[in-house]
Amino acid sequence: MNSRLQVGIMGSGSIGCFLGGKLATNAQIDVVFVGRERVVSEVHEHGLHLLALGSSHTAVDSERFEFTTDVSALSKCQVVLCCVKSAHTEGVAKDLSTVLAEDAIVASMQNGVRNVGVLLRCLGPRQVLPGIVDFNVVSQGEGRFQRTMDGPLHMGHSSAAAWRSVVKAFRTSGLTIFEHEDIVPNQWTKLLLNLNNAVSALSGATTPALLLSPDYRRVVAGILEEGVRVLRKASIEPAKLRGIPVSWMPKILRMPTPIVRLVTRAQMNVDPEARSSMWEDLMRGRPTEVDYLNGEIVALAKRLGISAPINESIVGLVKEAESAANGSPKFTGPELWDTVRKISSKR
Ligand SMILES: NC(=O)c1ccc[n+]([C@@H]2O[C@H](COP(=O)([O-])OP(=O)(O)OC[C@H]3O[C@@H](n4cnc5c(N)ncnc54)[C@H](OP(=O)(O)O)[C@@H]3O)[C@@H](O)[C@H]2O)c1
Repeated sequence: MNSRLQVGIMGSGSIGCFLGGKLATNAQIDVVFVGRERVVSEVHEHGLHLLALGSSHTAVDSERFEFTTDVSALSKCQVVLCCVKSAHTEGVAKDLSTVLAEDAIVASMQNGVRNVGVLLRCLGPRQVLPGIVDFNVVSQGEGRFQRTMDGPLHMGHSSAAAWRSVVKAFRTSGLTIFEHEDIVPNQWTKLLLNLNNAVSALSGATTPALLLSPDYRRVVAGILEEGVRVLRKASIEPAKLRGIPVSWMPKILRMPTPIVRLVTRAQMNVDPEARSSMWEDLMRGRPTEVDYLNGEIVALAKRLGISAPINESIVGLVKEAESAANGSPKFTGPELWDTVRKISSKR
């Protein structure tokens, strides 16, 4: 009998392949990736390659993993990481509920604040853990997954032996993990930061270019400030970001570019080509997660009887770009600021 831990990846795209690939570098773990046929063929043809921030490259030993479209392959897994986009969570949760053992642990590695609830509803009584991936990964084709930003994983805590092995394996692979009894404040902080994914998607600008452009920063500061205001009204206190209250971020973003450059250099290490996964979605003609990010702020504002016109206008622009199916609309900074200002003033 195989005594190695069996870990499943449900949804093998950028994050799933990267996290599963990290685990597969551990000799005590076998990884079962479940993904679309196109990714299965890509990895069967080229192998699985993890590119770290900088130049290091790991080719994952194909003996350590299985790559399939068949969700029933996860029936042998003690732990499954859910790595699909939020719109697919309910569908995969229903599939998982028919195949997973009752004592399997499922961890959501997704953005947004709803996925754990959806998984719990479909998978209870199984243990469902929340997770936050505080860095970015892009798919470069030919089985290559490039990390484009540094940052840790944040996870809910569990003392289950299988989960402890996963945490240990992530740490051994070089990832930093913070475990939390209450991760909700961190989830809201991540959501606030993810509001800027839409600006990346609508502009096509790299993360460094966004940060160095006063006009793009003005839009990001506007959506963030509005997000903070809505959370405050809802009495939701987001966690500090690397020691800084998120409510300070709009002020920092509105400072002159040399100061922003200094602050961001001190705070994060970003690949020069980094862009958001929402940009990648538009470029590949896939639906985005905007409803679960900026849309979450709009929905919360509505429930509170207030408005969130800047985020609402951003949601509208991203939806237009999704329908046009023409990639990123490539708004320049002044165009985006002007458009958002005009639309939001009418709301
Ligand atoms: N990428 C990042 O840098 C990053 C960073 C932090 C957090 N996140 C979060 O992590 C989650 C995953 O993001 P991602 O960028 O990795 O997304 P992604 O690249 O789109 O990967 C998800 C994969 O799951 C596939 N999938 C969906 N339903 C499936 C099913 N029923 N069976 C098999 N495969 C299925 C998708 O296929 P289709 O494309 O055909 O639907 C896609 O290949 C999101 O919540 C995202 O916000 C991403």
